[in-house]
Amino acid sequence: MLKVCILGYGGIARAHRKGYEILENAGAPVELVALCDIDPKQFEKEIAINQGAAGENRAKVLRTYTDLEEMLQKEQPDIIDICLPTYLHFEYASMLLKKGYHVQCEKPMCRNSKECEQLLKIAEESGKQLMVGMCLRFDAFYLALKKLIDEAPFGKVQTAHFERLSSLPRWGFDGWFHDYERAGGVALDMHIHDVDIIRFLFGEPEKVSARTIDSKVKCTTINSSFVYPDKLVSAIGDWGQSNNSKFKSYYHVNFEHATVIMEGGVITVYPDEEEPYALDIETGSHMAEESGFFARCILGEQENLKNKPCDAAKTVAMVERLMESAEQGGAYLEV
Ligand SMILES: NC(=O)c1ccc[n+]([C@@H]2O[C@H](COP(=O)([O-])OP(=O)(O)OC[C@H]3O[C@@H](n4cnc5c(N)ncnc54)[C@H](O)[C@@H]3O)[C@@H](O)[C@H]2O)c1
Repeated sequence: MLKVCILGYGGIARAHRKGYEILENAGAPVELVALCDIDPKQFEKEIAINQGAAGENRAKVLRTYTDLEEMLQKEQPDIIDICLPTYLHFEYASMLLKKGYHVQCEKPMCRNSKECEQLLKIAEESGKQLMVGMCLRFDAFYLALKKLIDEAPFGKVQTAHFERLSSLPRWGFDGWFHDYERAGGVALDMHIHDVDIIRFLFGEPEKVSARTIDSKVKCTTINSSFVYPDKLVSAIGDWGQSNNSKFKSYYHVNFEHATVIMEGGVITVYPDEEEPYALDIETGSHMAEESGFFARCILGEQENLKNKPCDAAKTVAMVERLMESAEQGGAYLEV
């Protein structure tokens, strides 16, 4: 049985906690034993984030700590699941790997590519496993699209467009989401999911281009193009939506013989010669899938080929390339 502790019990940690609960109920060999946060009030609060559906705050059923060293001493965990703000990922992931723990770290891997490259080296030298939470790689809605692309029942992809839209995050610790230096704007925080899934589905583009808007914070909105020789691919990441609007993730993909649209928790297929139909997929918790996958990798039951840390680092580098393009007015830059 692998023992897990979560470090940083804010918005996304609640979804992780729920994921472990699902795994434990399914008899997986992984158990969440404790939480650590510097702010003890976090163990009492309900926090609503974009993703929603984290369920009630069940911190009270776990042991809680405000001191990391004390938690490590008392709990003797195998895995630390880092749910800290982005600007702390490098410092804590490298320290914990060096101390001999396996580390699952929320996305983005680090605040910048330089830190990502250093962390890859530290992970390799530590002999411990590192995995970054590029969670769409475990999300049934995106895995169903990957299957359609790979098996090609409707032919090849001609165009693909992805969106992730919300109001400015309001739940974060110390306003960190609104500070470009700490969060990297919508590009590094939310758009990164679509950048990563585009790389996962289609491989590396030849060039990328982006335009951004700084209406509410630096990089509120980003509109990106990914140049492939045989298809048009684009994505929008937006924190500029009204406070009264709901989070939305969306894609539409034109294949040679069908259009496929994911919206509102449904994938609809519009074949050229048949009536439209909803794709029948099994949707579970992508957080449970992600943490279950990492546990199986640590137990040696499988190799992490699907979500390698070097891939998470490449995705951060591509977000940086998009921001460079935006600074040059949308220039097409090689990646
Ligand atoms: N996968 C996703 O879809 C998704 C969604 C939201 C956030 N995230 C990522 O998860 C990370 C955390 O985001 P969040 O929304 O949970 O932020 P948050 O601000 O709600 O939570 C961060 C928590 O860390 C705690 N903390 C800060 N410094 C600490 C320290 N030194 N030691 C211990 N605790 C400390 C804070 O008190 C807070 O509770 C970010 O990197 C974010 O990009 C991912």
